[in-house]
Amino acid sequence: MAKLVIQGGKRLQGEVKISGAKNSALPIIVAAALATEGECVLDNIPKDSDVGTICLILRSLGVELWFDQEGKLHVVGSTLNKYQAPYDLVRKMRASFYTAGLLLARMGRAEVPLPGGCAIGSRPVDFHIRGFSQMGADITIEHGFMKATCDKLIGTNYYINRSSVGTTMNLMIAATLAEGTTVLENCAKEPEVVDLAIFLNGMGAQIRGAGTDIIRIEGVEKLRGIEYTIIPDRIEAGTYMFAAAITGGDVLIKDIVIEHLRSPLSKIEEAGVVVEKGATEVRIIAPERLTAIDLETAPYPGFPTDLQQPLVACMTVADGTSVITENIFDRFRYVDELRRMGADIKVERETAIVRGVPQLTGAPVEVTDLRAGAALVIAGLAAAGTTEIYGLDIIDRGYERLEDKLRGLGADIKRVETHEGIDAFAQIETRV
Ligand code: UD1
Repeated sequence: MAKLVIQGGKRLQGEVKISGAKNSALPIIVAAALATEGECVLDNIPKDSDVGTICLILRSLGVELWFDQEGKLHVVGSTLNKYQAPYDLVRKMRASFYTAGLLLARMGRAEVPLPGGCAIGSRPVDFHIRGFSQMGADITIEHGFMKATCDKLIGTNYYINRSSVGTTMNLMIAATLAEGTTVLENCAKEPEVVDLAIFLNGMGAQIRGAGTDIIRIEGVEKLRGIEYTIIPDRIEAGTYMFAAAITGGDVLIKDIVIEHLRSPLSKIEEAGVVVEKGATEVRIIAPERLTAIDLETAPYPGFPTDLQQPLVACMTVADGTSVITENIFDRFRYVDELRRMGADIKVERETAIVRGVPQLTGAPVEVTDLRAGAALVIAGLAAAGTTEIYGLDIIDRGYERLEDKLRGLGADIKRVETHEGIDAFAQIETRV
């Protein structure tokens, strides 16, 4: 196990390149295994641990995959030959439930563990399951697994109860090879949904309407392997924007799709940051002290829930009081850790009231979930003295080379091994 150790107070300056989007890579790697002809070659795959986990899950299902010397991931779907996803890997990540859509489409049978509880509140998969069932799958929940069978999935009209990224993508994956037409209503419009649709259409699928709330999928007989480049990670880009902002920095964030960041960019401008937009990059020039802003998270194109925590970290030292409302998940547990660094935050149900203080102070803190981890790093960059961030494996799930990229911008940050996970009794001698 390792922790991050940050000496705060360094102004971030320079350039940082953004990696491929984790939340696109996960469904696209799974969808690549729909191809029964040829192989998929995927470029711009971020090497974070969630991506590693999805690769291992697919391998356990018989799919062949490997990285070439240029870092492109090759996926051979034709070797898929198992329908049981292993609990020890699936439990690590909710996105592994995408394998259910793949397995039903390809094998007519899926046994996938239900994702368990999670540090950002209850995250059921009932919308996914209802969709599979409406497409004709017989489903039972046994011993913590969803067990589903069908001769062939049948196209259907399905209204998703609440805009859900995962449900939209899983049902798109399932419907590509179904018999007839599937119409999904109240779909998520996130850029990652559009990325998956473009990829699937390149493989021969017939999907129309991705990026709107109605997606229409005409089932096809088979899909073929293609080469594809994953879109940039808008959440990683947003994280570096807020890291630059809290340190009064001047940072050029490169290799992004600027349109995907409209809401975060407008909010950061409201907080007093000068934003210079290029075609595929943005320069963030931050003032000495940010101004407090109010914010509500919302499905795309609204402000992403995944950047709520990084923004709150910035607001802890802003001039004034911010009112932040979280509408997607139960995502305020981490504020206790920010309070340990001197933040003044009051949470009432889904709203956090953040009174800006002049300065945070470094402290040992614990990561509660992925984006909370990003928030603690951002707070640590601005805090006086040393911040030690435990639970680094959670940050590694979604950020590729975080400390290297921050060090490249002038941050004083390092990864240090800890004593966590060491067998205490093995350390204590037995005397006779
Ligand atoms: C995805 C992203 C995550 C992001 C979230 C919202 C991935 C791997 N993760 O998560 O980073 O924070 O979108 O933008 O892409 N819900 C149900 N039943 C369901 C499905 C969802 O009640 O079957 C609820 C959830 O609890 C939540 C809301 O719907 O309150 C939206 O969740 P959803 O969009 O599905 O999030 P994920 O796809 O899990």
